[in-house]
Amino acid sequence: MATQSSAALKLLSPNLVEQARLSDQEVRDILAQNEKSTLLRFSTAGSVDDGKSTLIGRLLHDSKNVYDDHIAALEKKAKNKGTEDIDLSLLTDGLKAEQEQGITIDVAYRYFSTPKRRFILADTPGHEQYTRNMATGASNADLTIILIDARKGVLTQTKRHSFIASLLGVPRLLVAINKMDLMAYSEKVFDSIREDYTKFASRLGIKEIRFIPVSALKGDNIVNKSDSMPWYSGETIMEYLESVYVAGDFNQVDFRFPVQYVIRPNQNYRGYAGQIRSGQIKVGEEVLVLPSQRRSKVRSIDYLDVDPNKCQLGEAGAPQSVAISLEDEIDISRGDMLVRPQNVPQVKQELEAMLVWMSETPMNPSRSYILIHTSRETKCYIDSVSYRTDVNTLSREEGRPLSLNEIGRVTISTKAPIFVDSYNKNRATGNFILVDDESFLTVGGGMIIDRQPQELFHDSTATSPKMTKSKDIHLESGSVDRTKREVSFGHKSVTLWCTGLSGSGKSTIAKALEERLFADGRPVYRLDGDNLRFGLNRNLGFSKEDRRENIRRAAEVAKLFNDAGISVICSLISPMREDRQRAREVIGDSFFEIYLSTPLAECEKRDPHGLYKKARTGEIKEFTGISAPYEAPESPELEIDTAKLSVEQCLDKVLKIISK
Ligand code: ADX
Repeated sequence: MATQSSAALKLLSPNLVEQARLSDQEVRDILAQNEKSTLLRFSTAGSVDDGKSTLIGRLLHDSKNVYDDHIAALEKKAKNKGTEDIDLSLLTDGLKAEQEQGITIDVAYRYFSTPKRRFILADTPGHEQYTRNMATGASNADLTIILIDARKGVLTQTKRHSFIASLLGVPRLLVAINKMDLMAYSEKVFDSIREDYTKFASRLGIKEIRFIPVSALKGDNIVNKSDSMPWYSGETIMEYLESVYVAGDFNQVDFRFPVQYVIRPNQNYRGYAGQIRSGQIKVGEEVLVLPSQRRSKVRSIDYLDVDPNKCQLGEAGAPQSVAISLEDEIDISRGDMLVRPQNVPQVKQELEAMLVWMSETPMNPSRSYILIHTSRETKCYIDSVSYRTDVNTLSREEGRPLSLNEIGRVTISTKAPIFVDSYNKNRATGNFILVDDESFLTVGGGMIIDRQPQELFHDSTATSPKMTKSKDIHLESGSVDRTKREVSFGHKSVTLWCTGLSGSGKSTIAKALEERLFADGRPVYRLDGDNLRFGLNRNLGFSKEDRRENIRRAAEVAKLFNDAGISVICSLISPMREDRQRAREVIGDSFFEIYLSTPLAECEKRDPHGLYKKARTGEIKEFTGISAPYEAPESPELEIDTAKLSVEQCLDKVLKIISK
């Protein structure tokens, strides 16, 4: 995963890369300097030819961040061409050259400073047709400069970039209306573009938007005030960058520390290195390790590459990169996360997210991708695209797999659990990227959203089992109907719905029943809760909502089988009365509820997969009967207690009710 993944790593923690090279003294100097000047991270976004390179060059040049010999070389070049003006866009040439040689660079971080502030510019040269670079650069930014060519005004690309910036939670945008010199420095032009943009952006929810009329080529309002636009009394780009207050942007509440490396320089020290993505921590405070859920206390907090004894901090906060050691020996590895026991992220294997597709190869829901979230990587599948967003109108369009530059709301399921917050709560733990597992190219960038309960079953049983997402869908019935099939097969199709605790004997009874019915010549199929979770229901966990969806799907599948003339034996815990009632409504008269009332104590004694044991120690959460409820049926078609009856006796009872 050569270049892409290291770019991703940088994206996740540019600080770490920067600080790892510093000496003890340099760290002290930076700390001292930090007191006086704050850091601003910003990125730029623009379309082809709207002067981004020139703007960056102008910023660096006019703020004296360019070496004299570099300028001398450019002056010589200009003279050879017979012009006076040096081509400032060439200051970013180094990167272009690398790209021409075929080296992939998503983002290059440029560091520069003025007496007032230090800056990290996420420079995203080349590949202008891709939003990928723009999104990568903006994901860490305190602000994004959106460039608009005064001759062209607000373009689709401008809107797309602004929308992505808002998805990424970039708190403020600086809209630089460039090439004002080519529009006679007209106030009218500036006002009209500002108006257009404001109209569009009012729906984006960006905290702060500033408009500055500039000419990067001539140097108007970049670092120095323009004489050509007396009607503009606001600040220059540099004045704004130097003065904008960003310290309040970081989430200082939720401590999240994804472990990037385990460092073990000697027997006495074992440190976990990484960047504090949000929140703060002090020596002596208790931490919880995810996913193991072990607890310990912080023994020390140190800067990287520095003798732990010399540079102890005692406390640290986002976005510092540190090494943390704990009081207890706990097995912790890359990808684990340290948090506070009372403030934990969500541990998830299914995500709802807004996803920006960044690859020329369209999304393929039937294949897997690698999801990179903080310092964790896991295989994942994109289960669904519920809608796409038209970036021009911000309206929703029908969901289908995304193509290059498209943005949509998706559901993703991951192989390993990841520790997430919603993006609007915590940018650092709310974003992820998707990587193609063959080419190792970044194909998507996502922002995790909180699931809205009412949206959960947008097309399901929330109000009625018959509700469809669109009203323009009609049932198509064929002439080979259920009755014809049943007559032909010589059997009526039924659904035997076995409900009960884990270990109550559902699977055993279901398997034996299947054998018996099959031997009788009945077309029959078994839908087992565990089995369904390997495929159809792979993306579902054990929350109340997920179980509801689990049952809804099983019921719909059972109904299809019944329609095909095939009997079904469902064995699912299906703990909630209401969910089973919905299944009954879906399936209709052929639904038989069979309650396996084997007592909890007996189920726990059997514990066929050792799950009760794990549930008792808290290793499995929301376990039915232990830490999640089971509502016994009030009037099932049949109740059987497998602690009292043999399998044969149970089968006889079942056959009796369906032969009535
Ligand atoms: S249901 O209640 O949501 O319908 P389902 O029958 O699909 O559950 O799956 C239950 C099976 O999942 C159990 O037999 C058990 O093997 C496994 N399992 C894993 N975690 C849990 C849990 N937290 N609660 C219940 N079952 C669990």
